[in-house]
Parts: sequence; C-alpha cells; structure tokens
Amino acid sequence: MNNSLLPDMKAYFTRKLLEWNTLHNRREMPWKGEKDPYKIWLSEIILQQTRVEQGLDYYLRFTSAFPCVSDLANAPEEKVFKLWEGLGYYSRCRNLIASAKIIHSQYGGVFPDTYEEILALKGVGPYTAAAITSFAYNQPHAVVDGNVLRVLSRYFGLETPIDSTKGKHLYSELAATLLPPKLPAVYNQALMDFGATVCKPQIPFCTSCPLQKKCKAYAEKKTGLLPVKEKKLLRKIRWFYYIVLTYKEEVFIKKRAQKDIWQSLYEFSLIETERKLTEQELLRHPEVKDYLKNGAITGWSKPYTQQLTHQTIHGRFTEITLQKKTASLHTFTATTLQELGAFAFPKLITTYLKEKNVNLS
Ligand code: ADE
Ligand code: SF4
Repeated sequence: MNNSLLPDMKAYFTRKLLEWNTLHNRREMPWKGEKDPYKIWLSEIILQQTRVEQGLDYYLRFTSAFPCVSDLANAPEEKVFKLWEGLGYYSRCRNLIASAKIIHSQYGGVFPDTYEEILALKGVGPYTAAAITSFAYNQPHAVVDGNVLRVLSRYFGLETPIDSTKGKHLYSELAATLLPPKLPAVYNQALMDFGATVCKPQIPFCTSCPLQKKCKAYAEKKTGLLPVKEKKLLRKIRWFYYIVLTYKEEVFIKKRAQKDIWQSLYEFSLIETERKLTEQELLRHPEVKDYLKNGAITGWSKPYTQQLTHQTIHGRFTEITLQKKTASLHTFTATTLQELGAFAFPKLITTYLKEKNVNLS
C-alpha cells in the first residue's frame, strides 16, 4: 500500500459509503434501526451462519415468542430448540439460552451495556459485541464480519489473508480507523449492507460502485482474487445410516449427546461411517444384526445429502419393525409418529419425515 495516499483513501471510503447509504441503500430488515439490545443480539446470533432471507422468519418467531430476555431465560429449553429447528449450528441456540439465563439472573434481566460485559457472554465474539454496542448504544466499535473483510481487502488492495493472525489485526485496526465516531450505528449497518448488495462475493457491481474511483482491486483487476484466505476449505465426508426402529405404534428416538452442532437434538439409532456402505455391509453391522434378531426391515429410504460449510453429510434411513421390545431399547425415548413434532431433529431427519408425510408442526 502506498502510505501517502492512505489518509485520502480512508476519508473517501467513509464519506462515499455514508453518501451511498443515504441515497441508494434500499435494504430493509426488521432489525434495522432496532435499539433494543436483546433484539439486536437475537438477530446477530441468528444471522451468524445463516442467510438474511432464511433468518428473517426465525427472528420474527423468536421476538414474538420471547419479547424480552427474561422470557427467553424462563422458557423450557425444548421449546427454544424447537423454535430453532432448521437453522442449524445448534451451539448458537445453546449459547443463546445460557446467556439469556445469565442476563436474567446476574443482570436482573437488563441487557449489559459495556463492550467487555457483552463480549463475555457465551456465543458472542468481537463482531457481535461491536454490532450490539454500536446499534443499540451508538458506541464507536467497528464491526468486522465477512462482508467487511471483503470490502476492505478489495478497496485497499490488501493481500494479507483474512483468516491469518496478522490479517485479523490488520483488518480490525483498519476498520476502527474508518469508523466515523459520531455515526457508528449508521456506518456499521451501511458497510454490511454495501458488502452484501454491491461489493458482493462472486460478481461485485463495480460499474455502479461509489468507491470505484479509488478502489485498488478494481484498478488492478483483482476483484476476483480478493480477499485471500490462508486455509483452503477441506470438506469432510460423513455417512449417517439411521435405523428407524418401530414397535407397534412406538417409534424410538434418542437425544444426541456428542458435543457437536446437533447436540441435544433427537435422532434415530445412528451408525456413522466415513464411506458409503452397501446394503449388505449395513446388514452385517453388529447393531443392525442385533435389531434384526427381533425384527425385519420394512423400508429403505433414498440417500439424502446435506451440505455444511466444513462437511458433506450423506444420510440414509433403514426402517426396522420390531416384533418385541428388547433390552437394547432402554437407552431410547419411546414416542409415536403423532408425537414426533414435539421434538427437535437435525435437518436430514426432518426432510425424511416430511417426505414420509409425518406431521411435525
Ligand atoms: N448480517 C449480520 N448482521 C447483519 C446486519 N445487521 N445487517 C446485514 N447483514 C447482517
Ligand atoms: Fe468492491 Fe468493485 Fe466497489 Fe471495489 S469497485 S469496492 S471491488 S464493488
């Protein structure tokens, strides 16, 4: 970067961005302009790994079911999980509940108002703390999310990887110097909206961009190369073979205990493998053999696939009808098809159940 030009580039950036926001930003969202820190927090947690279009409905349902943080803290956890169903990354939901309980009991239900206290909440990182303090209290903290990193990297022509330690410092320091001290809320929201609607990941709208005249990436034809990431995405592949056990009207499910993104959700008996199994291989699996001593296969589903950021999940359901209840069922919760709707399941399972016309509402 040519440092003598930097102050000029920075002032231009902030001025043009604010001007664009006033004249051209038409992005409407229910949490925009919201001043209730609880609602801002909810919206930011929901949007952490979720697209705005998908998150919108969840935001409306959560704010209507739990109008204030104490409502959320006092709600039965199963109800909160059920409302979160379909959003994925369930650790967000667990952290939401844990933090709501802390705000309810330690802060008397009043959302804290310092950056440090908010940052100490579970599931809240520097981005979310900056979003809440700036939007709710107009405190001068610059938000740095994926949108912001992309815009800064392109406009200033920075090739430092955004996911490196050095990059994290560089970009957050730069972001802080660009923030107009009197307009943190408006500016932060404008920058995120700009990244999402103009300087977009795949095809940015450079021809109509208000920053184009001074944009380094545009001048050097590098928009497609920026931002740089250090770590290439390595996608793990997993095969989930669900065994749907039924005995008369009963269906057997189990709460997932592993500390992963589906912890606390319910699932069927599950055999996980790193590669695809043939039907014969699955039938030779000790667990399946055990079930088949007292039951018979009554159905195979088609394979399902779910794409997550770091993993591809393939799933298939084998339906086994039992002739009697065995000891191995003791670790399961017995329910019925009609009652399944009361439990929260991972997406693969709800997709399967919906295709079987099981009513989950
Ligand atoms: N993504 C996360 N928070 C956002 C916000 N406040 N506006 C736009 N996109 C967002
Ligand atoms: Fe982004 Fe293109 Fe604008 Fe540069 S000119 S800030 S790359 S949209």
